[in-house]
Amino acid sequence: MSVKELKSLKNNNKVIFEGKKYKPLKNAYIESYGCQMNFADSEVVASILSKEGYSISKNIEDANLILINTCSIREKAEQTVRKRLEYFKSKKKYHSDFTVGVLGCMAERLKHKFLEEEKIVDLVVGPDSYKDIPNLLEEVANNREAVNVLLSKDETYGDIAPIRLNTNGVTAFVSITRGCDNMCTFCVVPFTRGRERSRDPKSILNEVSDLVSKGYKEITLLGQNVDSYLWYGGGLKKDFDKANSLQKKTALRFENLLSLVAKENPKIRIRFSTSNPQDMSIEVLKVMAKFDNICKYIHLPVQSGSNAILKKMNRQHTREEYIQLINSIRDIVPNCGISHDMISGFPTETEKDHKDTLELMDYVKYDFGFMFAYSERPGTLAARKIKDNIPEKVKKRRLSEIILKQQEHSLFRTNEFLGKTVCVLIEKTSKRSQDFWSGRTTQNTVVVFPKEEFKLGEFVDVKINSCTSATLQGKAVRISNHI
Ligand code: SAH
Ligand code: F3S
Repeated sequence: MSVKELKSLKNNNKVIFEGKKYKPLKNAYIESYGCQMNFADSEVVASILSKEGYSISKNIEDANLILINTCSIREKAEQTVRKRLEYFKSKKKYHSDFTVGVLGCMAERLKHKFLEEEKIVDLVVGPDSYKDIPNLLEEVANNREAVNVLLSKDETYGDIAPIRLNTNGVTAFVSITRGCDNMCTFCVVPFTRGRERSRDPKSILNEVSDLVSKGYKEITLLGQNVDSYLWYGGGLKKDFDKANSLQKKTALRFENLLSLVAKENPKIRIRFSTSNPQDMSIEVLKVMAKFDNICKYIHLPVQSGSNAILKKMNRQHTREEYIQLINSIRDIVPNCGISHDMISGFPTETEKDHKDTLELMDYVKYDFGFMFAYSERPGTLAARKIKDNIPEKVKKRRLSEIILKQQEHSLFRTNEFLGKTVCVLIEKTSKRSQDFWSGRTTQNTVVVFPKEEFKLGEFVDVKINSCTSATLQGKAVRISNHI
C-alpha cells in the first residue's frame, strides 16, 4: 500500500496501523432514544459488536459505524430521530466513510421504507434481531440490502452480558420481559416489540450477581409490563395455557422473581418498571413490604381518570379498580412513592372526562408523573377506528392543566420530607454544582447535598432542609445503616 493510499484510508477512518498490519477500524457509536428498555438494548448491541472486534466510542467523530436506537411512541419522538439523521447526513460531507444503522421501534415500524425515505441509512434492525447485526454489516459491506425486522417468540437476549454504556458504576438496568400483549388502543409498542415473553430467571440472577460483584448498588428490573412476568421454561406468555402440568405447577411469577432477586442480594437496592394496574398483584405488594432492599416506589401508569376513556383505550381496569389498587398500596407498603403516565386529549375525551382525570390525580396525589398529549400512531386500533377529534389546542390546554396539578402534588409530596432524615444512594455529581452529590430516596425522589467526605455509591442519611417540587436538598449526616 502506498503512503498516499494509506493516508487517504486513514483520513476516512478506514484502517488503523498496528505493528506492520493494517486492520480495518471498527469503532461504533450508539445513540439511544425513548424508554429505558432501549437504553438497556443498546448495551446488548454493544456486547454483540464488541465480540466482533468493535470498540464502543463516545465520540461520533471517531466512529465508522453509527447506530441510532429509536422510539416510535409519539410522533415527536420520531421527528427527533429524523433530525438526528439529517445531522449524520451533514457529517458525511466531511467524513465520508461510515455506516448508519437504525435500531429499535422505528426500524420495526418502517422496515424497508426506511432505506427509501432516508438515503443515509444503510442498516435497519428491529428490537428482536440484534444478534443478526454482524451478518447485516457483511451485507452492507457487499452493497446488499440489510434489513432484519423479524419479531421473535423467544428472543430475550438472556445469554448476552450487556456492556454498560455511560455507566455511573452504581445503578443498572436488567431486562426481564420483552414485548407487550396488552394492546392499549393508542400504543405502538405491541406492534414494534412483539408478543410478551419472559427471560430465564437463572440468567437474570446471574446478571444481577455479576453487577453486584462489580460494585453496583442498585438494579432496576425492566419490562414493558413487569408484573406480567411468567417463566414456565420459555415461550410466549399467551401460550402458557398449552404448557404441561409440571410447567404450570413450577411456573415463576413476578412476585417469585422479585423475592429471589431481593433475597440473594440483600446489600443492593432493587427497583422495577413498568407496572400495569391490571397485572399488579397483592402478592407483589407483600413482597415489597417484606424486603427492605426493594425500593418503595411504583410507576403505575393510568392514562386517564375516566371510565369511558379507559374503556376506549382498552385498559383492562376501571377507575374504581385503580383506586382500590392505590388503597392496597397505601395499606401494604406505607410511604410508597407512586408515579403515573397520563394522556390528554384521547379521541372523544370530553371536559367531564378530563375533570375525572384531574380528580383522580387529587385523590392519589402522585409523587410525579409523565404527561403527554395524545399522538395518533399509524396502525394502532385507535388510529384505525377512532377519529383523532380533539383539537391540538384543547389537548395542549388539558395537558397544561394536568401538568400544573402534578406540580402542586409533587410539591406537596416533597414538602412531606422537610425536617426528616432519609437514606440516599449517591449516584452522581449534581448537575447544579460539582460540589454536590445527587441521589434518590427509596421513593425515587431526587436528593441533592454537599459532597463533604462522602463517596459515590455510598448509602448515606441525609437531613432534608429545603425542597422544590422536583428535588429535595439537605445535608448528609452519616453513612446509613439502611438501604
Ligand atoms: N408499559 C410501557 C409503556 C410504554 S409507553 C412502559 O414500560 O412504560 C410510555 C407512555 O407513553 C405510556 O404509558 C403512555 O402514557 C404514553 N403513550 C403511549 N402511546 C402514546 C400515544 N399514542 N400518544 C401519547 N402518549 C402515548
Ligand atoms: Fe403500550 Fe399499554 Fe403495553 S401502553 S406498552 S400496550 S401496557
